[in-house]
Amino acid sequence: MGLYAIGDLHLHFQSELKAQAQLNDPVWIDHEERFMANCKDLISDDDTLVLVGDHSWGKDLSECEEDFAYIRQLPGRKILTRGNHDMFWDAKKTKKLNDLFQPELTFLQDGFEIYKDYALVATKGYTFEGPYYIDQRGQIIGYDESNKEHADKLVKREAERIRKSLDAAMAAGYTKIILFLHYPPTNVMEKESVFTDLAAAYHVEQVIYAHCHGERRFKDSIQGMYKGRLYRLVSGDYLNWEPLKILD
Ligand SMILES: [Fe+2]
Ligand SMILES: [Fe+2]
Repeated sequence: MGLYAIGDLHLHFQSELKAQAQLNDPVWIDHEERFMANCKDLISDDDTLVLVGDHSWGKDLSECEEDFAYIRQLPGRKILTRGNHDMFWDAKKTKKLNDLFQPELTFLQDGFEIYKDYALVATKGYTFEGPYYIDQRGQIIGYDESNKEHADKLVKREAERIRKSLDAAMAAGYTKIILFLHYPPTNVMEKESVFTDLAAAYHVEQVIYAHCHGERRFKDSIQGMYKGRLYRLVSGDYLNWEPLKILD
């Protein structure tokens, strides 16, 4: 039995591909076939696979049908969390998605799922992504303040969502927690954030995140052990489409 994670499949069996990088970077060539083959090698029916957001380029559910058909074919129990490109998923209508797709797919937004004696908690998260103003040496010397203000509001909303889910898990008696964010827990200017603070306050064992694409972005946030918790980036292109084992 194992818990695996990977994010950012960015499937587009039916929809328009909107990211130039996905056309140009060789890591994305036939990624659907390579990911399916890797999953079949690694994952058995009693394993759990968490897909950490950005599942599909579809602009609504009808444009995601073939993408979900593909995800359903992956081995194991499948839990999906929200990414910034998942236009089919209104957070307030998560129940509707679960009514449509369970038991094959579980959409995790508020509350928690259970893996062994762990609670799995998830939300999209948010981080300020610029624009930044850079000097000749590549150092950040400023940033767009109105974008930062907007980002701060979204960070606050996402932090509240996580807090509620963490409280629900604790109230149900779970003390071992894995937190899944789609966005990285900190942006390139930060060493800590409300997300790292929450992870510490609730003694989260691991913080799993995705969203960072391309070599230049892989080091945008924390990776490895940091103040007693393990931070791991699981974007699909970073993992070259091999799901990462989170727990045995
Ligand atoms: Fe993505
Ligand atoms: Fe993303």
